[in-house]
This record gives sequence, structure tokens and C-alpha cells, in this order.
Amino acid sequence: MESYAVEPHTGRPDAGQPSTGRPSTAQPDAGQPSTGQPDAGQPSTAQPDAGQPSTGQPSTGQPAARPDRPRRPEAARPGGQEPLLTVRGLVKHFPITEGLLRRQVAAVRAVDGIDFTVDAGETLGVVGESGCGKTTTGRLVLRLEEPTAGSIEFEGRDISHLSRGAMRPLRRDLQMIFQDPFSSLNPRHTVGTIVGAPFRLQGMKPPGGVKHAVQELLELCGLSPEHYNRYPHEFSGGQRQRIGVARALALRPKMIVADEPVSALDVSIQAQVVNLLDDLQQELGLTYLIIAHDLSVIRHVSDRVAVMYLGKIVEIGSRESVYAGPMHPYTVALMSAVPTPEPDPSRRRERILLTGDVPSPIDPPPACRFHTRCWKAQRICREVEPPLRELAPGHRVACHFPENLGGS
Ligand SMILES: Nc1ncnc2c1ncn2[C@@H]1O[C@H](COP(=O)(O)OP(=O)(O)O)[C@@H](O)[C@H]1O
Ligand code: SF4
Ligand SMILES: [Mg+2]
Repeated sequence: MESYAVEPHTGRPDAGQPSTGRPSTAQPDAGQPSTGQPDAGQPSTAQPDAGQPSTGQPSTGQPAARPDRPRRPEAARPGGQEPLLTVRGLVKHFPITEGLLRRQVAAVRAVDGIDFTVDAGETLGVVGESGCGKTTTGRLVLRLEEPTAGSIEFEGRDISHLSRGAMRPLRRDLQMIFQDPFSSLNPRHTVGTIVGAPFRLQGMKPPGGVKHAVQELLELCGLSPEHYNRYPHEFSGGQRQRIGVARALALRPKMIVADEPVSALDVSIQAQVVNLLDDLQQELGLTYLIIAHDLSVIRHVSDRVAVMYLGKIVEIGSRESVYAGPMHPYTVALMSAVPTPEPDPSRRRERILLTGDVPSPIDPPPACRFHTRCWKAQRICREVEPPLRELAPGHRVACHFPENLGGS
């Protein structure tokens, strides 16, 4: 099982910081290890950019962490308003073929019937072990993959099977932030070319010109307008991810899918990029689908959390509800592995070690897919698939014998 030990968001005392008109976390990534490039004229990796708002954060290379921002309460959600994104019964099977005729012999059931919604302005965090279908879910939502079955509605419009051409105008509204800021930026292109590419691809002329718009985006993301003519290799990992974020924001999208946006970064930098995403959301009213295997990251950024296991959503609910009282045994096990600063020993969770590997998504276990690893499994779990039932307001769980019923 992967480690969920990173805790990048504790105790940063900058809530209520005076607004600078820019996201308050837009500082460069202090203490980022060198990229190994000669650093003459390198955009600073350890010094604040000129004109950068100070956060009073010492440049120690420690996580620039802060407490979880209070998320939107249920009541603040737009009443009766359609979700921005609605996913129903979504399935993606990758065929496995054999022989010259490429006869299909099996399929990887990467995503196997999931339902969720994302409201405008909120963040849905998707969490789960490697291979459970998170990336495929994100790619389906962006229509980078063709769904095998099910539907995806964006702003009430069914986009499940739109052609590439028909998706093109929608690319303005739906953008992606990639996991790896090292491979996702073309090393031969300047920052100006990279961040300005969406304008050119969409044939858009922003007021004031592309260069001006790109420089504004760089500033918004905590970089300097002078970085316009530099190349990706001149930047640290955190700064490169900021370039990726600036590119995703160029066309002012409504929704961003971020697939493991910080997992390739040094731990000391992760919180800064997470905080940047948070601040950009507040400033620009963005809607996020954020995918991560790290429960600490998901906890910090999400309004609601979906836990995936072998192509299924096994639990979904508000961050508070899921983290305070996880009900699916899989979620309970994942959370038990996260060290939490809990002073009361009676409330400390016992660590549950999941035994065995994640089964293959080619031939997942019948009924409850978690039964091969679940310490509560009984006969019914092997025979009857548990439906995703609402067991607390807005909190749905697929388990015959849920934990923490009636609150934590
Ligand atoms: N293009 C593909 N062809 C075949 N199998 C794939 C493809 N993409 C993903 N998979 C498989 O689908 C499953 C889910 O993958 P993925 O969505 O990347 O999971 P996660 O992001 O949670 O690690 C994995 O078993 C993976 O190997
Ligand atoms: S349905 Fe049964 S096997 Fe599945 S998670 Fe619940 S208790 Fe465990
Ligand atoms: Mg992935």
C-alpha cells in the first residue's frame, strides 16, 4: 500500500492576510532543490520574486502549510441549481486483444459504473490506491477517453460522445493540470509559448495581446512576468507546476481536472501549490476535480470526497463527514494510515494494515470488490454487490456492514 504520510497543511498562520489583489500564496517555492541546470540567470528558486507579496513565511524549505480552509457548508450550495458536472453510470473498459485479428479476450475494467456530481465552485477530491481508476475517470470527464457506457453532462449538456471537433469549443471551459511538471512542458518552448498556446490553439486574441495576457497569468500564479522568455529547465519543480497551472487558466476555464497535481513535487513544495490552487479557486470561482492518492492533500483541497476502489466509488460525501466518520472499511483502512495530531489517545485511530494486493481489474472479485481484503467480509459480501446507499445526509457508502454509523 502506498504511504499517506505527507501532512502538508498544518498550522500556517496566514488566514486573514491582507489581500494583495493576487492569491496570497503566490510566493516562489522556497528551498526547492536545484534542477541540476547551470543557474546563471536562473529564475530564482530560493528568493522571492521582485514585487512578490510576502507571506511572512520563512524560507526554510518546510511545508508552507496552513489549516484547512473552511469549505462551503451544504447550505451555501446553490439551491436547486444544476450541478456543473453530472456523471452517471460511467464505464471505461480497455479491451485486451490477442492474435493478428486482435480478437478481444478480456478487458481492463478501469472504471466500472460510477456516479457523481460536481457543483459550480466546489472541489470534488477523488482518492484511492494506484490503479483504481482515478486517472481514467479524469480523462473520461475531459473526454480524452471515449466512455464504454454511461453519460457525462457538463452544464446540462450531454458530452459523452461528442466528436473531437464538437469538443473543441468546450476545451475552453474544461482544462487539465498534469501530474508531472517535468514532462508536461515542452523543453524547447519558452514559458511564453507554453502558456500562450491555448490562445493560439483556440484562435483567441485576448485584449492587450497574448504576451500581456500570459504575463498576467504568470503573475497570478506567483511567477514573474520576466519569466516570459525563459525555458522550463530553468525552473524548479514547483515553479514548473505553476507554469502548468497558468497554462490551464489561460482560457478562464470553468472546470479544472487536476490529476495528482502535487505528487511529483518535493514535499516542501506541495503545500504551496495546493494553496495556490485553493486561492485561485476563490479568486476565479473555479470548479475542481482533484485526483490524488494522498489523503492529506485531498483533505485540504476538497469540499466533497469520493473514494475509489477497483473502478467503483465505494464512499462519497462531504469532507467533514467522510474524514470524521469514514463508513466504508476501505476508507477506514486508508485513513488509519494517515498520522494525525490527535492529542486524545482514545480518539486515535488504530492503524489497519490492508493485507494482499489490489486484485486485478481484469477479473475483479464478485459482489463487493473489497471482500478479498476486508476484515468484516461475510458471505453476503461475496454474493451480493452492496449498493451505494445514503447513510448520512449527502454521504453515500457501498457496504453491507458499514463502520461509524450514526456519526464518528
Ligand atoms: N490505455 C489503457 N489501456 C489499458 N489499460 C489501461 C489504460 N489506462 C489505464 N489502464 C488500466 O486501468 C486501470 C486504472 O488505471 P488508472 O485510471 O490509471 O488508475 P489510477 O489513476 O487510479 O492509478 C489500471 O489497471 C491501468 O493499468
Ligand atoms: S460489503 Fe462486506 S466485504 Fe465489502 S466492505 Fe462491506 S463488510 Fe467489507
Ligand atoms: Mg493515476
